[in-house]
Amino acid sequence: MENVEKLKTVKFYSGEATPLEMHKVRVVQKLNLLPIEERKVSIFGAGFNTFLLQNKDVFLDMLTDSGTNAMSDNQVASMSVADDSYAGSASYTKLEKAIKEVFNQDYFLPVHQGRAAEHIISKTFCKPGTVVPMNYHFTTTKAHIEMMGSAVEEIYTDEALKTKSDFPFKGNMDIGKLNDVIKRWGAENVAYIRFEAGTNLIGGQPFSMANLREVSAIAKANNIMLLMDTSLINENLYFIKIKEEGYQDKPIKDILHEMMSYCDFSYFSGRKVSCTRGGGICTNNHDIYMQMRDWVPLYEGFLTYGGMSVREIEAMAVGLIETLDFNVISHSPTFIKYLVDALDSKGIPVITPAGGLGCHLNAGMFLPHVPQTQYPAGALAAALYICSGIRGMERGTISSVRDADGNDILSDIELLRLAFPRRVFTLSQVKYAEDRILWLFDNRDLVGGLEWVEEPPVLRFFVGKLKPIGDWVDKLVAKFRQDFGDSL
Ligand code: F0G
Repeated sequence: MENVEKLKTVKFYSGEATPLEMHKVRVVQKLNLLPIEERKVSIFGAGFNTFLLQNKDVFLDMLTDSGTNAMSDNQVASMSVADDSYAGSASYTKLEKAIKEVFNQDYFLPVHQGRAAEHIISKTFCKPGTVVPMNYHFTTTKAHIEMMGSAVEEIYTDEALKTKSDFPFKGNMDIGKLNDVIKRWGAENVAYIRFEAGTNLIGGQPFSMANLREVSAIAKANNIMLLMDTSLINENLYFIKIKEEGYQDKPIKDILHEMMSYCDFSYFSGRKVSCTRGGGICTNNHDIYMQMRDWVPLYEGFLTYGGMSVREIEAMAVGLIETLDFNVISHSPTFIKYLVDALDSKGIPVITPAGGLGCHLNAGMFLPHVPQTQYPAGALAAALYICSGIRGMERGTISSVRDADGNDILSDIELLRLAFPRRVFTLSQVKYAEDRILWLFDNRDLVGGLEWVEEPPVLRFFVGKLKPIGDWVDKLVAKFRQDFGDSL
């Protein structure tokens, strides 16, 4: 039984690199695929903002992997035996045991979702005059840290923002930049170093264990705490196991325990990692735990539920243990890789290598004729919905802000994120996405830009409304009908 961990992939006789579902579907939800004329009405109604679409008008919801993952049968079953009690719930005891088994951490603080953990961590450890260096920010993380008066410094490597790359660990920290931040600010002014697993905003890209080890050594030498955001740890574990030398034969649990041994504390969004809701903060350090503990009953709820329902807590305990199963954590990255490789091989601009969160289309290169001030990523999101019913998320200038003079701060890169909720889509649905993206690419010249109709001053991407510049939508619909006849 040696190498048993290695034997967990299935090769096809044909030689095709086809990802295989290692689960069967026993509960299903009916999907609607509206005719293109009705999709056009829906996107106008939503102000060309995919956040504002009604889910009933969406075929494949690839907006996010947050709170949209499939639960296992064991998770659903666990919810029927939950122990309802405000304090000392037996469901919570099960969760604590799961935290110990999965993360090897003794102390746990439950919260209602990931950003609530960020709130408590930054409230405890951030203050004016301090800095939090990190491989890359996440929107809510940065907002919480800055709200407490700390600065954020992103110390990603040169590879991180390259859209085309075969570097396997684009989520790594640049060690030179880390040493520089510590020197410039002084170690005593570094609130903590934050390492995000499966780095979300650069395309779900992992870090390597070697890099984590090095960062941890520097943190220890300087007496700085190391915090890990484990919201996207599943896919980071998968990538370390398959890509980093020395980890192919190691059980997932051992890899995770090694990771955690380098950190002083960690937190997660249960909406992602455990396919539930909720979240939590973990540590083996009693002092760190005690500094944060009393905020939990104030902001979240008593220490044995932290804003979560007991049913959610039961499902979280089971879901966390399931993340130690290679078949569970390999589903998303293998399906994402399938789509990324298929599009890349046809010359469609996608972020490579494939990450663990979704497929990211490079909208700037997809629609080079649409200037950034006319929001190519937003236009691409709308155009893809119109031609397919697929809902992605704009991650470009619409998600940015304006400067003091009212000009758009153009984003580094215009992306359309097509997230893969875990174990939700089948391969034929992924092939449908590939097919419609291919059609749109061949007809990209028809797609034009967007302009604002209603622009909120804060977080405008959530509820702002836009409209197309010119009549490009009608042209796109007409071309679709010409090419697809009466197809949906
Ligand atoms: N950290 C990371 C890496 C995340 O991706 C998220 C959420 C959070 C923290 C916050 O967790 O939503 O439970 O409060 N990401 C979602 C997304 C919103 O769509 O990527 P939360």
